[in-house]
Amino acid sequence: MQQTILVTGATGTVGREVVKLLAMLDDVRVRAGVHSLIKGENLRRLPDVEIVEMEFTDPDSLHAAFTHADKVFLITPFTDGQVEMAKKLVDEAKRTGVKHIVKLSAMGANAEPGIQLGRWHREIEDYIKDSGIAYTFLRPSSFMQNIENYNAHSIKQEGKLYMPAGDGKVPYIDARDIAMAAVETLTGEGHEGKAYDLTGPEAITANQIAETLSAVTGKPVTFVDVPEEAARQAMQQQQIPDWMTNALLELSGVQRAGHAGQPNNEVEKLTGCKPRTFEEYAQDYKECFV
Ligand SMILES: NC(=O)c1ccc[n+]([C@@H]2O[C@H](COP(=O)([O-])OP(=O)(O)OC[C@H]3O[C@@H](n4cnc5c(N)ncnc54)[C@H](OP(=O)(O)O)[C@@H]3O)[C@@H](O)[C@H]2O)c1
Repeated sequence: MQQTILVTGATGTVGREVVKLLAMLDDVRVRAGVHSLIKGENLRRLPDVEIVEMEFTDPDSLHAAFTHADKVFLITPFTDGQVEMAKKLVDEAKRTGVKHIVKLSAMGANAEPGIQLGRWHREIEDYIKDSGIAYTFLRPSSFMQNIENYNAHSIKQEGKLYMPAGDGKVPYIDARDIAMAAVETLTGEGHEGKAYDLTGPEAITANQIAETLSAVTGKPVTFVDVPEEAARQAMQQQQIPDWMTNALLELSGVQRAGHAGQPNNEVEKLTGCKPRTFEEYAQDYKECFV
């Protein structure tokens, strides 16, 4: 029998990859929860994808999206209202009888005391546990796609990768591998009550990222290590809110200090495929950087 899986945040970095993979499965009916119908247009081209408009702060839109959904892949955006939004989604999942929530969390969500980003995810994880709904938590490390989302402009314009990263190593993961793990945990057996730390195959420095992008694009890319205070000032000039500046600098401080975690083989154990290297990612997305 077909099951209906709702993906929230379906136009985002991970959500759209999950929708694409689920759309290929015969026994799944995918419901893509999109914030903006215009951004959701691309998903319409996929076979058998139902598009529903969702505004996380609007209870009516949540009710329509969750009704008759068997499972949910729960993505909430990186905002200061993330915890409250997620709680509303979990409440609606409970009301509508959802049987399994797979939540996109973050590596370090279980660390004590951890950092603010992780604590927000932990609060959501705890709320899901308390709801009584079967759950699985995916806790990825930083996404390779952050480089195209946040750094592509300066790489293209100046050949510079600005990061407050020092020589800290991070086991970056490709969002497409998170999506593969998500599909397995949504459709496979035995993932209820489990949490998986997901990483890429190697921990790399920002300098290695720049070197790989140079080699792949054929254009020199230089890493510029930005001191924390200079990064804070730049973010203030860009009118990034204080809560976001503080959370991001706390994360980069952990990464700079070399505490961003070690690569593991959870992606391969879950999916049977080796996680993509940064070089593979760069080859596939090189048009974003030239
Ligand atoms: N980036 C990383 O390195 C990293 C690492 C570990 C964990 N995470 C976690 O991953 C999650 C974000 O995933 P992502 O990067 O795939 O997301 P994303 O690309 O930022 O996309 C967020 C999605 O949520 C939608 N959205 C935003 N506000 C909404 C609202 N009020 N109502 C309904 N939908 C709304 C967005 O639609 P619109 O664009 O149309 O608004 C978009 O589809 C966060 O919880 C973050 O903490 C990120």
